Amino acid sequence: MWKNIEAAPADSILGLTEAFKNDSNPAKVNLGVGVYKDDAGNTPILGSVKAAERILVEKETTKSYLPISGDPGYGAAVQKLLFGENSEVITSGRAATVHAPGGTGALRVGAELLKKFKKQAKVWISKPTWANHKGIFSAAGFELAEYAYYDAGTMSLDFDGMLASLETVPAGDVVLLHACCHNPSGVDLNEEQWSKVVALGKEKGWVPFLDFAYQGFGAGVEADRYAVEQFAAAGVDFFVASSFSKNFGLYNERTGALTLISPTKEESQVAMSHLKSTVRVIYSNPPAHGGLVAATILADSALYDQWIGELDEMRDRIVAMRSALVEGLAARGVERDFSFIKEQRGMFSFSGLSDDIVSWLRDNKAIYVVGGGRINLAGLTTGNIDYVCDSIAEALKK
Ligand code: LMR
Repeated sequence: MWKNIEAAPADSILGLTEAFKNDSNPAKVNLGVGVYKDDAGNTPILGSVKAAERILVEKETTKSYLPISGDPGYGAAVQKLLFGENSEVITSGRAATVHAPGGTGALRVGAELLKKFKKQAKVWISKPTWANHKGIFSAAGFELAEYAYYDAGTMSLDFDGMLASLETVPAGDVVLLHACCHNPSGVDLNEEQWSKVVALGKEKGWVPFLDFAYQGFGAGVEADRYAVEQFAAAGVDFFVASSFSKNFGLYNERTGALTLISPTKEESQVAMSHLKSTVRVIYSNPPAHGGLVAATILADSALYDQWIGELDEMRDRIVAMRSALVEGLAARGVERDFSFIKEQRGMFSFSGLSDDIVSWLRDNKAIYVVGGGRINLAGLTTGNIDYVCDSIAEALKK
């Protein structure tokens, strides 16, 4: 079957991790995939997660199937985190949540569902966006279009360009937005800018689809939900793909959710029925463990506080590494101004390093950066920061 078929290219992000694992250079540094590392270079299991797992080991009595939409406690916990405890969206019952296998699974379920009812729609993605967005929506059969987002000249948001592009989006098309911690740029909208985008979306009648994979990595779980709250208040139909991979460190438990918000409870019930029939033919029902862990933590005030503390620690360490990188490069006499890295949010920085420099760093220094110059700041540690700064400084002199 495969004799005359060419091998598919390696994934631009996960393929890098494979190459990194096979690299025998002891100085190697992985600044590719968006996975948090502590200062010792490990991706720890959070203390709150371990505690919840111990509770589950004691309490769990069955491994029977979950409902198609997942554990009901999980759906409720997801909504509480997305909208806030006393949100009108929750009390009015106009949100429908399914536990999806990770943020990617949530996006794909959403894409499949949209394809059933919005066959002619185009999906608008930011320029640039996470590489897998293109794959996910193309695989579901959508034509893609791009809206302006990042200005490589100023290393900042091209908000006028973004609005101008979004003005042209016809009613019924889907607009994929990063709710916070834009991947790959690290450049977010401020509250005023979000208000304008929400108003425009409502006026034009496009379907907003929010990718919310980094809640808590921007300014905190509450501040980061601003875009979600604004779309909810607008009373429009919209989708949210969220994930506990990063903020709970539950990467390999594939713990994500797709939430559909509708103007009324009745519409939300219809939405849930189609969500369920979509899930049933893809993976039937979700894996349980990660969702039960997250739900256990979110329902217990002591574990919740512990988790928030751990999340704050992760965010603070990344912020410290942003400064260490900027100052480390300046201290080595690098003339280019990298101070914009301190303004970016989340795990990533669009560093402005060219693809030639990215290749040079990988080939000569075993430093792995995603093509386009995206650096995962969480891969930097006090142990490797000097090596990384020396290497970038050397690369920039070439
Ligand atoms: C990333 O952007 O590195 C992460 O979201 C992991 C992934 O699946 O690509």
